[in-house]
Amino acid sequence: SKGGYEFYMLKEIDEQPAVMRRLSQDYLDEDGEPTVDPKIVNAISKADHLYIFAAGTSYHAGLVGKALFENFANIPTEVGYASEAGYHFPMMSKHPFFIFLTQSGETADSRVVLQQAIKRHIPSLTMTNVEGSTLSREADYTMLLNAGPEIAVASTKAYTAQIALQAILAKALGEKLNVKAAKDFQLKHELAIAAEGMQQIVDGKEKMEKISKKYLVPSRNAFYIGRGIDHAVALEGALKLKEVSYIQTEGFAAAELKHGTISLIEKGTPVIALINDPVTADLTRGNIEEVASRGASVITIVSKKLANKNDDIVLPNIDYYLSPLLTVVPAQLLAYYASKDKGLDVDKPRNLAKSVTVE
Ligand code: F6R
Repeated sequence: SKGGYEFYMLKEIDEQPAVMRRLSQDYLDEDGEPTVDPKIVNAISKADHLYIFAAGTSYHAGLVGKALFENFANIPTEVGYASEAGYHFPMMSKHPFFIFLTQSGETADSRVVLQQAIKRHIPSLTMTNVEGSTLSREADYTMLLNAGPEIAVASTKAYTAQIALQAILAKALGEKLNVKAAKDFQLKHELAIAAEGMQQIVDGKEKMEKISKKYLVPSRNAFYIGRGIDHAVALEGALKLKEVSYIQTEGFAAAELKHGTISLIEKGTPVIALINDPVTADLTRGNIEEVASRGASVITIVSKKLANKNDDIVLPNIDYYLSPLLTVVPAQLLAYYASKDKGLDVDKPRNLAKSVTVE
């Protein structure tokens, strides 16, 4: 049931702190050690290369996963659109391992790639929210997101669950492979910070409604920009906003805008800038200047340790690699309110279905 909510999307955004706590409980022991099935960790630790396949929001979660697996497990990782890989199979390393990210476990595009993997005897894992789903049954291994049913067409809590679960798997792999970054990673503590931070953000949701009403609702188009892991979140923020509000939105690597797309910036064009990476924060600030001087209405979403007094949305501090768990929440809320305040059916955007079972 909607439990008093007007739309499932907001209910599911609000459930994210609980999902983080549940994943921490289900996959980390009291000392914070991963309890991932050792068969899965063993199988993946033999791989020389990970290939993540997914679609849409799950693909965006995979882009964050690449950073997690490379940093914490030291395994080179490639992320691909399932719809492309099915017919233009990427060149393989000697010992590949495939990870399928799929909330529903039924996405036809992903099933095509899994069939290829089976044919080529490439071992595979499905991370899904639906026990017994097709991709779960057909892959060698399954890890469940345990996020509870996601009813709104726009995915929210499954995205953050996919990121948290990949972080858990990356830590388990890295510990097995003796990677220092994994051993030092206080994941249980960081997931607790994520849950608290998410709660703080959803408790302050009126702020996102105000920003959305002032800058997004009146606009035809919008941009998200960010560097590094924030680029991955920029793509997801843009998808969320466009799919539920019909405001045409693109996500960009912050510096790429000036290589062409900056010509679309007009007076009042909303540009939402994400800043969590200390290494590139000043550079992204420079890119903000570029668009602001051309009239853009810039909205900044910045982690506290990098924030200054003019920033719009300040996020609690968290490990950089888990920052998407917080950054995405204001983006989800901006999308939600833009849709709701335009009077749209937030949970059922036109032309979309919850699971896409055709290629
Ligand atoms: C967007 C959204 C879609 C799905 C995509 C893949 O909010 O939900 O982009 O992420 O259709 O679906 P799954 O994860 O079920 O394979």
